Amino acid sequence: MRTYRRDLSRIAKEGLTRRLKVRRSDMLEFSSNDYLGLAGHPLLKEASIRAIEMYGSSVAASRLMSGNISLHEELESDLARLTGMESALLFGSGFLANTGLLYSITSSDDLVFADKLNHASLVDGALLSRAGVFRYRHCDTDHLEYFLANRTCRGNRFIVTDSLFSMDGDIAPLRKLEELSMRYDCNLIVDEAHAIGVFGNGGGICREYGVRPHAVIGTLSKALGSYGGFVAGNTELIQYLINSARTFIYSTGLPPAAPAAALKALDLIESQPDSGKKLLNMAADFRGMIESSGFSTSPSESQIVPVRVGENRKAVALSEHLERNCISAVAIRPPTVPAGTARIRLSVTLSHSRKDLNYAASILSSINGDR
Ligand SMILES: Cc1ncc(COP(=O)(O)O)c(C=O)c1O
Repeated sequence: MRTYRRDLSRIAKEGLTRRLKVRRSDMLEFSSNDYLGLAGHPLLKEASIRAIEMYGSSVAASRLMSGNISLHEELESDLARLTGMESALLFGSGFLANTGLLYSITSSDDLVFADKLNHASLVDGALLSRAGVFRYRHCDTDHLEYFLANRTCRGNRFIVTDSLFSMDGDIAPLRKLEELSMRYDCNLIVDEAHAIGVFGNGGGICREYGVRPHAVIGTLSKALGSYGGFVAGNTELIQYLINSARTFIYSTGLPPAAPAAALKALDLIESQPDSGKKLLNMAADFRGMIESSGFSTSPSESQIVPVRVGENRKAVALSEHLERNCISAVAIRPPTVPAGTARIRLSVTLSHSRKDLNYAASILSSINGDR
């Protein structure tokens, strides 16, 4: 029988053991992606409850069977408008959107050029399709251009990137990536999971920069305070995905409460278009406070604030120290981040008060004083 003891002890030896912890309401939360503080908003809860009363707790079938409800289609049309694309398609999660998209639009004749720090789901989809994958150095457009000029294929070529990198909080050089994708006849795919709702009046960084990729991926599970994922693109792409994306076709539609909450989140974002800017200003102040206590938050330029410590056990010790001071901020270690770059990842949300941010910075500062 397959046993796991040896694997687990290797993981432990490297200081990489992961443990589930139940969220505590008495902690100041800095690991949540609920950037706009919408997950507990009374209007989202009310919308979800109403949807459950109308449709039940599950649609109990895939969308192509009997699981398609008007809330799904309404949300898809709003997400297309938000991202400035023609159409959108919901998936069970952002992870399923990425794997479903890349698995269905690439083949073994194709090449994918992916930023080295892209989210795992973007790489997995290409691996499933057996497309050739080249990972260029993080945000290094010269390295990407070297690949583009030297790696050709029989089929199509794709440049794939996160817009806002989830563990560093920095932004991809999207304008340059768009220019390269045109010059080298590639398709640009951008994952806006952490940027939707925050940048570009909620529409994401492509919208903010005026960049028009072949496809945008997003999640409902971060700033939109709900659950699920989506792909936005031209109508032909979306029709193709409906007919080919296995994670869409062979999976149950999102439960009614999820699109209902996300629709309400989009209403709120539209009625308060400055909330993303407010969050980014708070985050800039927070980064300043942390920097002044001697920690680096580089290269963050967003609500995601990494505090790098390097060694895995050091990151865990820092996280535990924060926990003893009622701050929840998880240690991030390989393989989520490259070896030797373990860190605490703090995310600022609109649920934080200035006092919360001052407190967290002061605890970090006291630790640095002790080193
Ligand atoms: C960049 C990126 N893409 C996709 C995902 C997956 O989204 P979801 O949580 O909806 O599966 C994440 C989530 O952590 C992410 O950080």
